[in-house]
Amino acid sequence: MSDQIVRPALTTSAGTPVPDNQNSKSAGRRGPLLLENYQLLEKLAHQNRERIPERVVHAKGSGAYGTFTVTGDVARYTRAAIFGEIGRTTEVLARFSTVAGERGAADAERDVRGFALKFYTGEGNWDLVGNNTPVFFIRDPMKFPDFIHTQKRHPRTNMRSATAMWDFWSLSPESLHQVAILFSDRGLPRGFRFMDGFGSHTYSFWNDAGERFWVKFHFKTHQGHRHWTNGEAADIVGQDRESSQRDLYDAIEAGDFPRWTLSVQIMPEADAARQSFDPFDLTKVWPHGDFPLIEVGVLELNRNPAHYFAEIEQASFSPSNIVPGIGYSPDKVLQARLFAYADAHRYRVGTHYESLPVNRPKCPVRTYHADGAMRFDAPQGTDAYYEPNSFGGPVEDPGAKEPPLRLEGEAGYYDHRVDNDDYSQPAALFRLFDEGQRQRFFGNIAAAMQGVPGEIVERQLAHFAKADPAWAEGVRRALEGAAG
Ligand code: HEM
Repeated sequence: MSDQIVRPALTTSAGTPVPDNQNSKSAGRRGPLLLENYQLLEKLAHQNRERIPERVVHAKGSGAYGTFTVTGDVARYTRAAIFGEIGRTTEVLARFSTVAGERGAADAERDVRGFALKFYTGEGNWDLVGNNTPVFFIRDPMKFPDFIHTQKRHPRTNMRSATAMWDFWSLSPESLHQVAILFSDRGLPRGFRFMDGFGSHTYSFWNDAGERFWVKFHFKTHQGHRHWTNGEAADIVGQDRESSQRDLYDAIEAGDFPRWTLSVQIMPEADAARQSFDPFDLTKVWPHGDFPLIEVGVLELNRNPAHYFAEIEQASFSPSNIVPGIGYSPDKVLQARLFAYADAHRYRVGTHYESLPVNRPKCPVRTYHADGAMRFDAPQGTDAYYEPNSFGGPVEDPGAKEPPLRLEGEAGYYDHRVDNDDYSQPAALFRLFDEGQRQRFFGNIAAAMQGVPGEIVERQLAHFAKADPAWAEGVRRALEGAAG
């Protein structure tokens, strides 16, 4: 750097000039340091606080900003302003991730990918916190911590445990659909640009007439699907642990902006009861023949964050963030997620995480929440710090109330494994694979089963056989090949 550049003075965090940033203050040339050298103390103390807890899941991720542009008219289903007119654009933050690995994990791992979006709408933030798969491993949130424990490290060995994974999956047949996707080619995308995104859950739309529609969100990649085989991924990880981060960052820097088309599947409220499957079961897809995709808009990512920690590590996405015209559904896993995310953010980022620039809505925020650690957005000189009040403070907006939802049934612990078909949809997916895809699929499963006790392998093979005998036979042959 040229000496000609006039550099601004370095300061402490209190704004006072730092007299020396190379040498600590010592008692004599060879003497010990002085406690009064508080610039040194401040520097070390700040460094000790540079880390926050990583996300308990989806810790490794990459993010970028972009825009969402409406291209299709769904205003008859939803009053959400974001979909209000063709051509309307909304600023978006996206964060993609792997699920199981820690913050420093390699990107080219076989794993589900997170696909989290924050739409900064004029009516508040709408977060769609989805994955690159339309279904999930569990259908009851009571099982989420158990499932995640099988994906993380064994408490004694501190290593990932194939035994724990297959033990859990083989005892949880509802996982079969997601397991099928995970071990297919789509389980190891070359980068985040080359995969679809899904809201996965059933959400709802509601319109000005008070009608409700159940809705599924699909983001289809414009870049095409590209995948690594297990062997290719092993080479990539050996050369580059940040392959997905690099691919996304470099593409955006080069002006090669990735795009996805958003479509929805729509089901009128009353039709849910008429389906042969439970439309709120997260392990099931809705048949596209009955519920065709309706195009809504295009997502484009076109700006890299300037500071990864401030903008991506502190980004806080929550399925509870919806806007008028979009609602939840009875999906049990979604219901639990409405609690889990904001709770995680208060712990991971802090009480006022929503005041941070990346999380702050781009519309006025008016709450009566008070104080807490690190409050820095104090409203100016108001007497309306409680509600109701006589000082013109904000009041509720009845127009934001969604139509009432009829509920029925007796409170109880219903066994979700009774009368539930866990096999037809994974079998249908398996039958779509061509011969090459099948062989890679069998090999991927066999590779992941190495070292797993025989009775657990047999229990899982019985699930494969129930879906399609050719699936079980193929994996058995691949296991024999791997053993031989
Ligand atoms: C991250 C909980 C199911 C997608 C997280 C985090 C928690 C969590 C606590 C970390 C949040 C943070 O620290 O910012 C749960 C629970 C689930 C569940 C309790 C079920 C009961 C799902 C499902 C999906 C999903 C079904 C996708 C359809 C994601 C994504 C992230 C995430 C994409 C990363 C968000 C980001 O990029 O910051 N989950 N999760 N999770 N979860 Fe879930």
